[in-house]
Amino acid sequence: MLSMCEVDREGRKKQTQEYFTQKRELDEILGHWTDEEILKNETFLDNSCGSGNILNAVLERKLGVGISLDDALPTLFGVDFEVTNVEECKTRLLRGREDLRHVVEQNIVCANALRYHYRFDGSPPYDPEPVVEPKKNKKQITVDPRVKENNLFPGLND
Ligand SMILES: C[S@@+](CC[C@H](N)C(=O)[O-])C[C@H]1O[C@@H](n2cnc3c(N)ncnc32)[C@H](O)[C@@H]1O
Repeated sequence: MLSMCEVDREGRKKQTQEYFTQKRELDEILGHWTDEEILKNETFLDNSCGSGNILNAVLERKLGVGISLDDALPTLFGVDFEVTNVEECKTRLLRGREDLRHVVEQNIVCANALRYHYRFDGSPPYDPEPVVEPKKNKKQITVDPRVKENNLFPGLND
């Protein structure tokens, strides 16, 4: 049976391309990293994290090599513009540790990944658009009427 989140997702699928990475694919992707590499506890970003399948699999690997949730959670970052996905992702990563909620509230962000500023500091997600001033002193080009009359540059009269 589908949960309410999954029902919403089914309806959105065409619009948002919500194909979530499956366990087999995750095992293949994460299989490229050795335990020694995982132990470095490097930072990981999924900029279309959905409900967190990839981030959750990375967390599993980190916990599996003995890194604590307190140390692993602050290394995981996600962005997604669907609020239900973002909330599900936060809950999954927390694993019941509500005392760490402030970490996911800052690091798992609801925003358009194409416009987010990627500071993960809790500030409003988008920087103001740069103001483009209209060009002043645009040169006026006067075309000698004979150019048009003699059709020297076809298309100029269009
Ligand atoms: C294919 S799913 C991938 C989810 C996750 N990475 C996984 O592998 O399970 C795509 C996700 O990208 C999100 N998405 C698509 N375009 C986006 C954008 N411009 N900004 C933020 N999220 C976006 C959708 O809401 C959806 O949750």
